[in-house]
Amino acid sequence: MKFTASLVSGLLLCAAAALSPMSTMAHGDVTPQAVDTHSLPPLGDEMRSENPYRGLEEAVKVGTSAYTQNCARCHGIAAVSGGMSPDLRELDTECIDQKDEAKKKACFKEVDDFFMSITMKGKVRNGVEKMPSFKGTFNQEAVWAIKSYLETRRASN
Ligand code: HEC
Repeated sequence: MKFTASLVSGLLLCAAAALSPMSTMAHGDVTPQAVDTHSLPPLGDEMRSENPYRGLEEAVKVGTSAYTQNCARCHGIAAVSGGMSPDLRELDTECIDQKDEAKKKACFKEVDDFFMSITMKGKVRNGVEKMPSFKGTFNQEAVWAIKSYLETRRASN
């Protein structure tokens, strides 16, 4: 009898633990998850300032899973923001609307550079960590793969 009761409460604890990532959704206590990028063309140590994987199917695939594990809890499932954090489908919007090709290219480069920077550094505002730093967990391949995925999620293409 006693055994059964503790078994039941043990099972309940397990269920609670399994559910907690969904129910807490707390900001700040996110452990960045490593991303396996071995299927992507290696980029070396020198950081690119522009996404070298744009449109590459394998990068979109790797980026989809990396985004889901590391970014979705704040920026939303499938990049559809619930309003708590910026909607990352909108990142390139002003570039897409740019008619001048040279300006368009410069615009993409600027957004790429900003994306790399904030993803690696994270964001602290008024002493509060709003977004964790992914430096030390991600290589640049992982960051560009996520960017490639987000480019497939734009509202307008
Ligand atoms: C703990 C929640 C959280 C996680 C996890 C998180 N972010 Fe953020 N992110 C934020 C918040 C909040 C902001 C807005 C920061 C501010 O300026 O106040 C933000 C801002 C950004 C911005 C700037 C957007 C803009 O329009 O200014 C980018 C790009 C970004 N995040 C990318 C990512 C990526 C890529 C990941 C996953 C690798 C990620 N974030 C994971 C919370 C998070």
